[in-house]
Amino acid sequence: MVSPLNLLDFEQISENKIQSLFSLADQIKNKKLAPRNKGEVLALMFFEASTRTRLSFETAAIRAGVGSFYFDSGATSSLEKGETVEDAILNVAAMKPDVLVIRAPATLPLKEICQKIDLPVLCAGWGSLSHPTQALLDVFTMRNHWVGRGQKVNGKKLLIVGDLKHSRVASSHIQLAKILGYEIGQCGPMNFLSQDQSLKSFADLAEGLKWANAVMALRNQFERHDQGLSFSKEVYREQFGLSHQSLRNLSTDGLIMHPGPINHGIELETDVLADKRSVVLEQVQNGVYIREALLRQTLGEAI
Ligand code: CP
Repeated sequence: MVSPLNLLDFEQISENKIQSLFSLADQIKNKKLAPRNKGEVLALMFFEASTRTRLSFETAAIRAGVGSFYFDSGATSSLEKGETVEDAILNVAAMKPDVLVIRAPATLPLKEICQKIDLPVLCAGWGSLSHPTQALLDVFTMRNHWVGRGQKVNGKKLLIVGDLKHSRVASSHIQLAKILGYEIGQCGPMNFLSQDQSLKSFADLAEGLKWANAVMALRNQFERHDQGLSFSKEVYREQFGLSHQSLRNLSTDGLIMHPGPINHGIELETDVLADKRSVVLEQVQNGVYIREALLRQTLGEAI
């Protein structure tokens, strides 16, 4: 039985808990919450590379007044001596931090390992399976643009373009959309598309963009394609790349999103980041608020 305090995916989370997380993030954004300063500790263990997720959790911990330490899965840890990833996690958990944040490959049986740990575990990206905090910060970003104009996320349309099949961000959005009621469309090469029946599929990017309120380009996950890609980067850019030209089909109040890291000149042209509809760095900023809110909520803070 997975502890209800864990956040590995969205299978056990209620809409109420998500709405209260967003309210907590609003307060953090408005600088209304004091640091906790209770001697609490956050442990970070990343077994895959990260810039945004790791550093935003660390920033969030500092702002929340929670100490943090980072387990280095590179040459300086005992993984080098043959220790297993599971043993490394159980040993760090035995040091009794208050919260454990883990990024792991899909091959790691994270749910089984969590059953052996008596402290909350937050997923910071799990292979192609889930990346819940990314989906939450994306929705928080959309909500902040739309709620201000009296609109809500339910019923809104998010077009995800690219490698949905190998994307943990897409997997988490597919789960989260079913809880919060926003619609997801997908567009990309056939072997990149999700088989989830709840998604609306577009063969043509222009049609998808006309349908959408927001578009999110995904990075092609070159490292997760065992057989290599069946088309060239140039062909992908031509058919599915976000550029000033293709984005003429997105409404003037639409949002342009990307979870990062970006393959410039493949899924997105660099100058698109200067488009007034781009919220790519706003997503990163909101990632700190959402992760601080999640940390505080996990430590028992309520609004
Ligand atoms: N979006 C995201 O997860 O970025 P990082 O891999 O840099 O953490």
